[in-house]
Amino acid sequence: MFLSIRLTTPRFIRGWVFALFIGLSFSSMSLRADPWSTTGKVLAVAGCVGSCAMWYYLITNYLGKTQNLVQPTNDEPTRYTFKNIIGKIPQEVLNIRDFLINPQPFKDIGAELPKGIILAGPPGTGKTSIAKALAGEINARFFAVSGTDLHSKWISEGAKNVKKLFDQAREAVSNGECDKAVIFIDEIEAIGSKRRPDNAIFDNALSELLQQLDGFYSDDSVFLIGATNKVDFLDDALLRGCRVDQVITIGLPDTESRKAILEYYAQPKRFSDDVQFDVLATMSEGLSGADLKAIINNAALRAVGEKNTMIMQHHVIKELQPFLDRLEKRKTQEA
Ligand SMILES: Nc1ncnc2c1ncn2[C@@H]1O[C@H](COP(=O)(O)OP(=O)(O)OP(=O)(O)O)[C@@H](O)[C@H]1O
Ligand SMILES: [Mg+2]
Repeated sequence: MFLSIRLTTPRFIRGWVFALFIGLSFSSMSLRADPWSTTGKVLAVAGCVGSCAMWYYLITNYLGKTQNLVQPTNDEPTRYTFKNIIGKIPQEVLNIRDFLINPQPFKDIGAELPKGIILAGPPGTGKTSIAKALAGEINARFFAVSGTDLHSKWISEGAKNVKKLFDQAREAVSNGECDKAVIFIDEIEAIGSKRRPDNAIFDNALSELLQQLDGFYSDDSVFLIGATNKVDFLDDALLRGCRVDQVITIGLPDTESRKAILEYYAQPKRFSDDVQFDVLATMSEGLSGADLKAIINNAALRAVGEKNTMIMQHHVIKELQPFLDRLEKRKTQEA
């Protein structure tokens, strides 16, 4: 079961309304208009509404209303597992899967389940997919959220969002809605970056995350997976032993995996016999699984656009080229 979690509050609208009324209240004060004149009355009303808006805004931000900011939506009931991931699944991830399915052999030897893992690697290499597939393998509910959604410009709100996320996962287990829950925080660096003396906002959300992790103790029913492209940015406190100390690198696919990924995404599509996936796999060195998936789809669009009933080798090569050009450009910029 897949739950994606979004922040639904139209914060920018609240912000503008707030700013407008505060502006009007100040102008009312600064103009010192005759209170009985029309301008005076309008400004006085605006000032009252402005104050109410300000109090409403502050109260809803700092008291219970933020509880509703993180909302799960159940949008994917189909089971997604490691069968959907092409290429090698890291042994550490397989160990976690095995531990969560059958903990006895691990417990017999005295092992404890880590509180979570970090999947690190370039964009599009399948980090989110692996996390989702792990949840599918162990039949857990998947609580997926982006670190940028948890993060907030308000000091207390980021921490509240983190707490709410963990509470939701624990409640789902304790209410019997599911046996296990996987919390997935994509772009975890948005809340888990190295702490800086001048940034209390990040600190607060990160401190809450650390507290939540420390509160896990022997609770093996909730497991955290973080994903990042910027592992070097993560705070040492998050990565310290007995918290989320296993950083598992999900690298770009090798030639064999690229061929398998191309073939996997080609499977439901109509391809001409002239397509040589091994040649395409060799040509696509440096591209991610996501790139390869997109290339196959773009080739299908191109084939139909050119009035063909099958996808041919040249369609794929045409679509491969812009990806290779971008890769080349990136390499030159980095050099
Ligand atoms: N090894 C793979 N096997 C099958 N599909 C893959 C693989 N790698 C990537 N994909 C596909 O590419 C798309 C993007 O993958 P995913 O979102 O998991 O990447 P990511 O590593 O999380 O990227 P980002 O760092 O940008 O968040 C998905 O549709 C996924 O199915
Ligand atoms: Mg991702």
